[in-house]
Amino acid sequence: MKLRSVRLSLRFVLPLALVLGVFAYAVVPMMDNLTLRWFVRDLDIRSRFLAGALEEPLLDYVQQKERRKINQLFDRAIQDERLYALAFCDTAGKLLYKTKTYPDALGCWHTPQKKGEAESLVSMPQGSLHVAASPMLQDGKEVGKLILVHDVSFIEKRSADTKKYVISLFALLAVVISFITVFIAHASLRGWVQSLRDVLRGDILQPLQAPALPEIQPVIGDLRSLLRDLNVERRGRDDMSSTWTPDTLRSLLRNELAGDEVLVVSNREPYIHEATPNGIEVRRPASGLVTAVEAVMRACSGTWIAHGSGSGDRQTVDRQNRVQVPPSNPSYTLRRVWLSKDEEQGYYYGFSNEGLWPLCHIAHVRPVFRSSDWDRYVAVNRRFADAVIAEARTDDPVILVQDYHFALLPRMVREALPRATIITFWHIPWPNPESFGICPWREELLEGLLGSTILGFHTPFHRKNFIETVDRYLETRIEGEASTISYGGKLTQVEHYPISIAWPEANASGIGSTATLHADVRHELGLGEGHLLGVGVDRMDYTKGIIERLQAVERMLELHPKMIGRFTFVQIAAPSRSSLDEYQNFEARVRGLVQRINQRFSNGNYQPILLKAEHHDQDQLQRYYRAADVCVVSSLHDGMNLVAKEFVAARDDERGVLILSQFTGAARELHEALIVNPYHIEQGADALYRALTMPADEQRERMRSMRSLVKDFNVYRWAGRMLLDAARLRQRERVMTKIRSHSRASLRRVV
Ligand code: G6P
Repeated sequence: MKLRSVRLSLRFVLPLALVLGVFAYAVVPMMDNLTLRWFVRDLDIRSRFLAGALEEPLLDYVQQKERRKINQLFDRAIQDERLYALAFCDTAGKLLYKTKTYPDALGCWHTPQKKGEAESLVSMPQGSLHVAASPMLQDGKEVGKLILVHDVSFIEKRSADTKKYVISLFALLAVVISFITVFIAHASLRGWVQSLRDVLRGDILQPLQAPALPEIQPVIGDLRSLLRDLNVERRGRDDMSSTWTPDTLRSLLRNELAGDEVLVVSNREPYIHEATPNGIEVRRPASGLVTAVEAVMRACSGTWIAHGSGSGDRQTVDRQNRVQVPPSNPSYTLRRVWLSKDEEQGYYYGFSNEGLWPLCHIAHVRPVFRSSDWDRYVAVNRRFADAVIAEARTDDPVILVQDYHFALLPRMVREALPRATIITFWHIPWPNPESFGICPWREELLEGLLGSTILGFHTPFHRKNFIETVDRYLETRIEGEASTISYGGKLTQVEHYPISIAWPEANASGIGSTATLHADVRHELGLGEGHLLGVGVDRMDYTKGIIERLQAVERMLELHPKMIGRFTFVQIAAPSRSSLDEYQNFEARVRGLVQRINQRFSNGNYQPILLKAEHHDQDQLQRYYRAADVCVVSSLHDGMNLVAKEFVAARDDERGVLILSQFTGAARELHEALIVNPYHIEQGADALYRALTMPADEQRERMRSMRSLVKDFNVYRWAGRMLLDAARLRQRERVMTKIRSHSRASLRRVV
């Protein structure tokens, strides 16, 4: 056995021996005591029995005063090796007869009052003795007592022997148990170590080659997912070695995806041309998706395919329905796809926004599924897929598919362009399998998405929900820890990539310093210099928690009346999907609530809530972000929420407080925000008051930390990580294709 094994074994043996030693030390005196009691009881019985046997001859001799015969009787009796001495006393307590061995000190032995076996033991110079006195009766009358003395040294000897045996037994037991334990531990350890080694050695994206020991199976899953996370984190750190900028992204495309073209497909277009009485005007939509992806497209060039929804869109495209954007500095192509009213109604308003949107958000609005909407959804996905295929100049383009409007498109494109790298990003939450299961076309949607090479979600939680949903409804092979799904011979990597915004703060420049904005914005709103200002920026959508936020403002004013007249909350709510009943009702509720709260607290010109239910461009939003004391993001459920990150990026003065719903993806990153449960109105009110009274130092500390995170984890890193993963998979695919063609060639030669 090697020294290490010996040391290892000693680690088992020594504690065990120690425990058993302590145990033996406690047990031996107990056993000693017990055996002593047994022996004393035996001697008591024995004494009574002997006294009975001697009674008759003894009383005869006593009556006849036959001293000689009595001595003979006594001497014969003590021939017994344990009976040590005998004596006879009369009723007056006078010692009349005794053997020579009888200790004088015993006299006429007085049985102790409280008789117990132990009290019949006495310690004499000749050793321990057991003394018992039995009354001698004649015609029922006591005439004296016989005192029987037993030598009990044999008890001590036996007790010593017993101790020896018990201790030896425990020692032997300790050694045997230790060896068995060490043996089993060694054997198991070797098996476990081997299994763990196999796991560590194996490619973590691959399934285990050999089955691991059953007892280690539960650990394997955790270990592999830990390794996977470490790997992802390490990759993140590698990617982090430089600050991600548009240039980093461009050089990644050049170097890692050499010559490959990038195609983006989304429903919402990045620039909407509107025909107005003053001519064509360009508008940027209120969409987190567009904000993020546009920054990437500016850096990467390529073609963005989207629905041409603006009234002036057709007038601004060329014959191929293309227009170069951004209008001020064209750097990529926008390819518009036209939809009829009927298609837009069924695919966009119906299936996407009355079906999938509420299905994926837990906001307590029932999804509506209609077959006619589904038919439009399939047809429009097909139309966009055809547009993607038509735009592709090579057979292996990189295609970035955006959001729930195009769940079927990845598979459709894959069938036409099997070598394409399709990266699909799901910008909204993915629900649990039970919730998703109520969609009548759940299998078709899942199959469509599994046409992707990479499928991305904002959070690990949504990624997990997706994998579990696939597991529930499709026959696939899932490598949970590696996060891959194999379906129909194709592998889809399912990952989480938290989306972000562009940094450096291009937006922040040119709109003035925070100090001047602070005063300007208050002046525009008719508020005094030191007036406290809160801001909320959303689309008018029931998932955004606007009602709950306004209720929190109301509650805060109730609890802190000194804030009435000192604090105003500006709610910017861009109109959204307004032809849907659910959205119209929601807007009416918001307006009603604002009116009620304002009536309750207004005073002269003062109104606590200013609702601005209209479109605001980025510059206007930046002004509010920079002028506000607090920004509230209280979504009931949100994939990420980029308003939170935009607010943080805007605050280069390191002031202002972010209140953030725990149900947003952003809450997983921006820990220094005041995190709230938007359903808990009191909590929202407390957070609001805390934000408005937060010392400048604390604001600075929180804001600085959040800014450094958003700066590092910007949208270029988001896109970069997906593209890097795509590059790795493409590289792997190329190698596999080469290997396959080589082996086919060798096979042909052999045949
Ligand atoms: C969410 C969706 C986006 C969508 C945006 C605006 O952020 O994830 O896909 O573009 O809302 O909604 P809209 O329906 O106006 O495009």
